[in-house]
Amino acid sequence: MKSGLEDVVAAETVLSDVDGERGQLIVRGVSLDELRTRRFEDVVAMLFSGFFDDVPDGDGLAAALGKARQRVFAEVAAVDAGLLRLSPVEGMRALMARLPDGDDLDTALDLLAAPAVFAPALIRRQRGGQAMAPDPKLSHAADVLRMLRGEAARPVEAQALNTYFVTVVDHGLNASTFAGRVVASTQAGLTSAVVAALSALKGPLHGGAPGPVLDMLDAVGRPENAPAWIEATLDRGERLMGFGHRVYRVRDPRADALKAAVAAMTAEGAIEPGRLRLAEAVETAALAALKRRKPDRPLETNVEFYTALLLEALGFPREAFTAVFSMGRTAGWIAHAREQGLGGRLIRPQSLYVGPRPQQAA
Ligand code: ACO
Repeated sequence: MKSGLEDVVAAETVLSDVDGERGQLIVRGVSLDELRTRRFEDVVAMLFSGFFDDVPDGDGLAAALGKARQRVFAEVAAVDAGLLRLSPVEGMRALMARLPDGDDLDTALDLLAAPAVFAPALIRRQRGGQAMAPDPKLSHAADVLRMLRGEAARPVEAQALNTYFVTVVDHGLNASTFAGRVVASTQAGLTSAVVAALSALKGPLHGGAPGPVLDMLDAVGRPENAPAWIEATLDRGERLMGFGHRVYRVRDPRADALKAAVAAMTAEGAIEPGRLRLAEAVETAALAALKRRKPDRPLETNVEFYTALLLEALGFPREAFTAVFSMGRTAGWIAHAREQGLGGRLIRPQSLYVGPRPQQAA
């Protein structure tokens, strides 16, 4: 048995390839270097192509996604005190679970619109404000920021969120995508698959790491404190959030894509340079300590580290970072669910029983 299914191939896909040795990511034949410059709506059209009837081009998909944002906004009326007591990702998951199951493009677009509409609405309501209705004419990224803040975002900010969405849009058979494909293999429908994937994403070993990355930066406080803080944390046997990956044995290329977006925001004055300097000092100290302590297991910076800085600068509260991750990744989950449902068999592996046999138990 392979612990954690490490190195086990469990699906064939045309959607994305993660080359952990070279540190390369390809989504439908497009490298991350190229992908990160594209509009989210164009990337979604590319991901969905062949998995639904009549997938529109990027402009058509942008218009349809804008309408979907308006459609799902009606669900925000169901937000009650119980939902507002939950974390944004838990509240969002509850609202998403109310959407009907289906396998068509409208169901897919509603699911893609759902985190983008529900997370900002819940954040605003938790702060005592009113939810903002979507503007279907805006790009997905610009509308998310507008619904979060109540006013238009600067172009550099909308661009940064767009870069984030396309950088995390799909990533091979990660834990959440696998969870979604298992559900899709039972023919349960897209909503069921996406809600399962979202549940897997929220754990701190997967999509829940960037909030704790900020907690770490706050605890370190100043660049010169980084080495001692990192050593003390590792001495306690704790993991450093934002470092290590199951597949990458070199630096996660998404970390570079997001660091470039963070640098662009810093140059435009949207991020305080001191915050970036602190993050770089923590990164340098962490990489040095991990290399020294785990010489046989390359542990490099992963996507979550610079995600934390980017989402903080865009004004998302740290407890909502996983919800923002899902705004991008839902497109990948949907495409994988369709790929699995259309072509794959029921996923049903075996377990190795290591408990007592009846005669031993007696
Ligand atoms: N900090 C300190 N030590 C680490 C870290 C880390 N971030 N990551 C791995 N290690 C150590 C482990 O303790 C283990 O040491 P041991 O052999 O002495 O017990 C060794 O490296 C191997 O670790 P595994 O748990 O086998 O690695 P795995 O592939 O299962 O885990 C994971 C990958 C979960 C991402 C891990 O590196 C981790 O916990 N990182 C921190 C959380 C994080 O950043 N998650 C986001 C990942 S990106 C994403 O999912 C979108």
